[in-house]
Amino acid sequence: MNNNMLYKYVKGALIAAFIVVVLAGCSSSSQSTAAQQEETQQPILIEGPMPIEIEKLREKLDNVEKETSGTFEFYKGTIDDYPVILAKTGKGMENTAAATAVAIERYNPIAIINQGTSGGHDPALHVFDIVLGKRTVNIGSLKTGQREDGEGIAPKEWKPMDLMASEGSAGEDPDAENIRYYEGNPELLAAAKAVKDQYTKGKVVEGTIGSADVWNNEVDRIQWFHEKYGTSVEEMESASAAQIAKAYEVPFLAIRILSNNKTNGGEYNPNTAAANQGYVLEVVKQYISTRSSGK
Ligand code: 5AD
Repeated sequence: MNNNMLYKYVKGALIAAFIVVVLAGCSSSSQSTAAQQEETQQPILIEGPMPIEIEKLREKLDNVEKETSGTFEFYKGTIDDYPVILAKTGKGMENTAAATAVAIERYNPIAIINQGTSGGHDPALHVFDIVLGKRTVNIGSLKTGQREDGEGIAPKEWKPMDLMASEGSAGEDPDAENIRYYEGNPELLAAAKAVKDQYTKGKVVEGTIGSADVWNNEVDRIQWFHEKYGTSVEEMESASAAQIAKAYEVPFLAIRILSNNKTNGGEYNPNTAAANQGYVLEVVKQYISTRSSGK
């Protein structure tokens, strides 16, 4: 090999090595950027059962795209440049559980807020007050007492039934006769409490939200739940969403406004649905700001 050929050979090898180093650098930096984006861009999922319980929030979403699955509607958009999925679940436990599972599988949310209206169990709470679900509980999960033919029914004897206690028969298992509470996520609760003074139409309190596909109008029965389960309000969705969020270990909080309270004569007011969404918007903005500042 003469000098000229050697020079060309070394130059070629150096260029090839340089290209390999640059490409490796590019691919690892693009991988870490993609990983960071995936981390920062996991959306917040906000759920509401009825059209009037999502419409105000939908108006506040930027860059909205609609997707559906079955009867469930998902509005993909942003709030303060952060991705948010707003889900219209439909009413009740089954719709909400299914919509929550679909949304988790499809969008991999960082957190879930289930929000909407509710009926008061606590006479100290009034229409337009808001309950932050420190706990949610399924108040339709019950086991009746033992009564034979002709012995009638006695709802006050009914016992709680924890369907998550074991994989065995809940009807036969005495360990299943417990109330199953789902805890609200502390970080979401902190965000909600941080903005509670911005809500001026009523008070914002922490409490227990009871859910079932039942609308209770018997005041004695409402009081029974209030005393036995510590319920502040009842509605038909939060505990089912909480159960599914827990199954996938996704942070969860229910935020429910009183639209009615039979225990103190509070008449149903549908305008509460919009008021609650206004407050939930502030909670979501607060949660986004604390996450992006790394607090
Ligand atoms: N009991 C049960 N559900 C109620 N809701 C509002 N108030 C009550 C109440 N007192 C909500 C439910 C459901 C719809 C019927 O209204 O969560 O979505």
